[in-house]
Amino acid sequence: MQPVLTSKTFGFSPKGDEIHLFTLAIPGQIEVSVMNYGATWTHLIIPDRNGKMEDVVLGFDTLEGYLQKDYQDHYCYIGSTIGRIAGRITDNRFHLEGKTYELPANLNGTHLHGGMEGWDKKVWKSEPFETHNSVGVTFYYQSRDGEENYPGTMDVWVTYTLDETGRLEISYKASSDEKTIINPTNHAYFNLTGDFSKTIEGHGFFGDAEKYLPMNQNSLPTGEIANVGGTPFDFRNLKTISEPIHRNHPQLDLAGGIDHCFVLNQPEDCAVLYDPESGRKLTLSTTEPGLQVYTGNYLRNNFKGKNGLTYGKRTAICLETQHFPDSCNHPEFPSILLMPEEIFQSRTQFVFTAE
Ligand code: BGC
Repeated sequence: MQPVLTSKTFGFSPKGDEIHLFTLAIPGQIEVSVMNYGATWTHLIIPDRNGKMEDVVLGFDTLEGYLQKDYQDHYCYIGSTIGRIAGRITDNRFHLEGKTYELPANLNGTHLHGGMEGWDKKVWKSEPFETHNSVGVTFYYQSRDGEENYPGTMDVWVTYTLDETGRLEISYKASSDEKTIINPTNHAYFNLTGDFSKTIEGHGFFGDAEKYLPMNQNSLPTGEIANVGGTPFDFRNLKTISEPIHRNHPQLDLAGGIDHCFVLNQPEDCAVLYDPESGRKLTLSTTEPGLQVYTGNYLRNNFKGKNGLTYGKRTAICLETQHFPDSCNHPEFPSILLMPEEIFQSRTQFVFTAE
């Protein structure tokens, strides 16, 4: 069925910019809302196996929710577009063309998810569109040379598209006038039960990955690309998260659960999240080589979300498609360099079903 696009004013940013909420929908099948503050994915309403429509991503009912200090102080990045670089960076620095770039630390001495004011806190320009079989919005932002100390003025486009089959795509495009680095992602938190007071430990997860990246005590890749076989990170068959996550394993202790990058074997249907209770299932495809899986280990009921509910530990899971974290300090990882004559492109698709 041809999807429909609607929009409304969601509020005003601290600087007084109008923030629009766009809804891409196929009535009865899927409703996706996104806004131009942080190019953020705010709602995903999909049916369970009995057709009951429920919102399955964490977020807030109002723009004020996203702006509240209690939330911003906890660095959760709910539904945000993350840039320029997803994750952490060793010693908050990288080298390029013989120069060292020192990056500002925003969380506990660490540069995380783009820094002090990453793309998640920017007001983007919005361009809604309709084609013969889809609707969507392109968000555009220009990140100036030296922003968060990164080199090069970068133009970035993030596009959310819903097609007639109900498939959602998030695509990224960027160019820079100087040699630089880029590794964006989306930070949606899924809980397919639709009940955010429940944990996601009962969800099944499949990750088409033979390898994963072990972390050090600073949540940075050690550089080893390890086999998942015999570890709690073996999701080569769909497995309930509660079983491996409670095993005794030093890597789980470091992160308080899963907060690791999986090395994807191939792009198509490379990850599945399934809630046996509701029957809701998400199947993901991506052009990116890595999937950072984060089981909401640091959610701590610190702020009020949708319907005034607070979000507790493991009440959601993030599936962040990206290049490997800290790639700028690991020449052995796939490169995140962007040359001035190049265009960065990346695509992730989500298919939602109920079984
Ligand atoms: C990171 C976590 C971090 C979380 C929220 C995830 O992408 O891997 O370590 O706590 O984002 O900021």
